[in-house]
Formats: sequence, C-alpha cells, structure tokens
Amino acid sequence: MKKILYAIFLMSITVSAQYTDINIIKEVKVKNKGIVVSAHPLASEVGAKILKQGGNAFDAVIATQLALAVVYPQAGNIGGGGFLVATTSEGKKIALDYRETAPSKASFDMYWDKQGNANTDLSQNGRLAVGVPGSISGMFETLKYAKLPFETLIKPAIDLAEKGFAITEQEAGLLNSQKADFLKNNKNKIVFVKDQDWKAGDLLIQKDLAETLKRIQKNGEKEFYQGRTAELIIAEMKLGNGIIQAQDLKNYKTKERKPLIFDYKGHQIISMPLPSSGGILLAEMLKMASFQDLSKYQQNSAEAVQIMVEAERRAYADRAEYMGDPDFSEDKTEMLISDDYLKNRWKSYNPKLATPSKDVGNIINPNPKESTETTHVSILDKFGNAVSVTTTLNGLYGSKTVVSGAGFFLNNEMDDFSIKPGVPNMFGAIGGEANKIEPGKRMLSSMTPTLVLKDNQVKIIVGTPGGTTIPTSVFQAIVNVIDFKQNANFSVNTPKFHHQWLPEVVLTEKNFPETTIKALEQMNYKIQRIPQIGRTEMILVDENKTIHAVADGRGDDSVGVE
Ligand code: GLY
Repeated sequence: MKKILYAIFLMSITVSAQYTDINIIKEVKVKNKGIVVSAHPLASEVGAKILKQGGNAFDAVIATQLALAVVYPQAGNIGGGGFLVATTSEGKKIALDYRETAPSKASFDMYWDKQGNANTDLSQNGRLAVGVPGSISGMFETLKYAKLPFETLIKPAIDLAEKGFAITEQEAGLLNSQKADFLKNNKNKIVFVKDQDWKAGDLLIQKDLAETLKRIQKNGEKEFYQGRTAELIIAEMKLGNGIIQAQDLKNYKTKERKPLIFDYKGHQIISMPLPSSGGILLAEMLKMASFQDLSKYQQNSAEAVQIMVEAERRAYADRAEYMGDPDFSEDKTEMLISDDYLKNRWKSYNPKLATPSKDVGNIINPNPKESTETTHVSILDKFGNAVSVTTTLNGLYGSKTVVSGAGFFLNNEMDDFSIKPGVPNMFGAIGGEANKIEPGKRMLSSMTPTLVLKDNQVKIIVGTPGGTTIPTSVFQAIVNVIDFKQNANFSVNTPKFHHQWLPEVVLTEKNFPETTIKALEQMNYKIQRIPQIGRTEMILVDENKTIHAVADGRGDDSVGVE
C-alpha cells in the first residue's frame, strides 16, 4: 500500500539552541508510521527517533519519559510516579501502576498541628511532601515489553541534560515564577535558579541530572533504589524534615494491575484502575451520560453540557466517598460502574435544574481550591502496540525540592492523600477513610491514561495532565469523537468545562460559548471562567487507517513522527 505522510504544521517555532532546534508540531496525519505525542517537542522527537531505530511503542515511551524528565522539569520526572495503560500487537492489555507510596514513617495525622488543623504547606512543599518515587521502577517494568536495551533508551536524555537545550518562553516564565519557592525549599544551589531572570532561548544544562542518568544507564534500576542515587535522596531528606528511609526506596515495587475495561457505544474503553480514580470516573461519567443520549444534542450546547456536568457531579461524589488504594481499602469498582448502581444514581437528574451537590454526597468542606499539573504521552507504533502514559510530580515542580547532587525534583504526591477528612488537596479534591495516609499506601490519583478500541483495533490513545480535571477532559475528548463525530483536532482543542461535585461550580475555559453559560446560569449553575483546562494528547486512527495525531494547542506540546 502506498505510504502517505503529510504533516500539518499549525505552529512551528524554531529556537536556536546548542542541542538542537525546537520545532513544535501540532498535528500530523500519517499512515503506517509510528507516532509520539507529548508535552515537549524534544521529548516527542526522542520517542520518534527510538521508533526509527527499530524500537516499539514501549521503547519509545521509556525514552520519551526520560527525555521529559530533562526538558520538562515542571512535571516530567524521575522523582515522581505514573500509570501506563497499553495494548500489545498481540492484544495483551496492560496496566502498570508506578504510583508513589507513603514512606514507612508516614501517619494519618502527619500534617496536623497540635490543635488538629491540617497544614497543607507541609503536604505540598518541601521534603515532608515527598512520596517514594516510582517512575524509574515503572520504566524498568515497561522494559519487559520493549525491544531495545535501557542503555540506548536513556542515552538521548543524558545528551539533553549534558548539552542543554533552549527553553521556551513558557518555560522561562514558569521558572521565574517559582524562584522564591525554589530558594525556600532548597538548602543547596540548584540549576533552576540563576541571578537574572530566565528568558526564551536560554540554555538549561543539567550536569548533576546527566550524571544520575549515566549511573542509571550503567547500574540499572538498583542505582535509583539502592545505589548512589538512593543515598543522595536520603541525604536530601536529612537536610530538612524528610522522612523517606533507605528501606522505603529498596522496597518500592511497580504493580501490574488489571486494566479497567468497559463498553461504550460499540467501543471498548481501556483505562487505569485504582489507585487512580480516573478509569472509574470515566466509566461512571460515560455510562450515566449515555442514559440521555448525548448525540441528540450539539457539542457544548447547554443540554449536552448539563448532562455531562451532572454525570461528573455524581461520579466525583463517589470518588470522595469510596476510592483509595485497593491494597488498603475495599475496592468498590464493580459496584460503582454497574448499570444498576448508576441508573439509581441518575434518578435525581433534573434536565431543567442543577442538582445540589449535597443531594449526591456528604459535604464536609464546601470551599476547596484549584490547581493543575502532570504530563501525558500517547504513542502508537507500526506494529500495533499502543501506549498511553500519564506521569506526575503532582504540583508544578512537585515539592520544589531538588535532590542535591542528583539534579532532579522530588514529587509532592503526599498531598493527593486525604490529609484530613474534609480538607481539600491542591486540586480541591476531598477524600475520606479510603484515601487516608498509611505507611506503604499509594495515594489516590486522577490520572486517566486511556485507549479506545473498536472491533479490537486501536481507535483512540488519549490522556492529559490537569489534576482532578483529567478524567473530565478525557471524558469530553472521547464523547467529542464518539457522540459528536468530531475530528481529533477539534476534540482536543475545543473549549472544555469541568465540574467535580465540590466546589459547587462549573469551570469553563476561555472561548466557551456564552449562550451555553447563560442557559446554565438560568438552571442554577454557578460558572467560573478560567484560562485553560489540561493539555490533551490524542492519537486517533480512522476507518481508513489514517493516523491523526494532535498535540494540545494550549502549550508547547508536539507530535513526533517515526
Ligand atoms: N497528582 C495528580 C494525580 O495523580 O491525579
């Protein structure tokens, strides 16, 4: 068959750099080629090069994640954790859980003061906020499905760290905005702080990180969990109030989970099970929305948005009540996604009026706050392997603490636990018993790396960052394709909305239709306009086997082609 390759350069920015020029490619349509979509053009290029070298999607996702750890330090990481959902060319469905764990010295009241007030500064900033990182373990677990040696996959990341790369305007702005926090949370000098402000085109060279990556290249997974890198992490803990012990690192293990699989309108959806709430929320929202047949309405019309918001409200109330690490609290997945349960949940839906959140869940604190970070990679290779990975430090640059001598940021994932019932985390999510802090436990996540299959063929690979807005963004991306018959570009870039039970507001992105907002307000919905929600990376394969890859227009996200 004739191979077609045509790239649409919706935006192409070239920044002169020591390492390489940076070309942001927003959309590509191609046949019979491997494709990588990630948050950074250099990381997508690394993934694509690995595919060209004969690697498969698993090789590419390892190399892309490692490159993101260098070129996207605000969320790409080796000091955090993530989830992988994949299908192999033979049809094996995989879910890898390399979520961080609470250290052995953690306790349910570790962030409470003497009066019993929870201190979110401690769960969000500095060494006490850090969970035991899982990313390196996850990459070595992924290696079982890969073809190339780890030494090859980590090489591009070493080069990027050693030679440096030109930062974009967005990255310069982010680094400048965090300078005070970086100084506050680090005892030693870090490369992310310099005397003058960062500006677009400045080189970011990370020698310590390059050395860390070289040690991992030489010594493998053990280097991070038991070697010199582990020693440096423990030494960093001792510089302040950190509690991670050598044994915590040594004991860290990625867990292979059973992917959450369900049907939606003739499609098979494969997503992440607990300890991410993402897959369950996605199943609950899609199934409840299907009770009203969304396809009768226009995309982003008041009717469609109301149905989706009410599905979101009920699903997120369940998140707060029932969800946590299934190795520590009862796994209620089967009940939560069953038709009987959801039909019952939907009985209170009123097409004319907003359902008060107190009618669908037990409210303790009505005023949580908002924030969004994390990063996503979607990859399809020419062999038919499809990989969807979302990985995170939690907040922007995680705990904002860099491991001295090792050069990477540590996560602040402990804040994803329910640090006290009713106290919202940085995403405004509230939890209870199921997600309380316990030693060795994984904190509840919202990450939703997802695949959609039709007739056993991969149709969509999708995911996004965005904290608690992740499941609702993935929900909308899928509904845009399946119900509203939209193309990949529209499905990713159309203005989004988000509701999460509490706070009792609907967030709408800029350019969201004002007529819809007015109609919703008349039905008692409180609307809050915000600049943007998430950054979705989508690969869509159409009936003619043309692959449409779209990197979200909201950031520097970019497509790489084999
Ligand atoms: N740290 C964001 C999440 O896991 O959902």
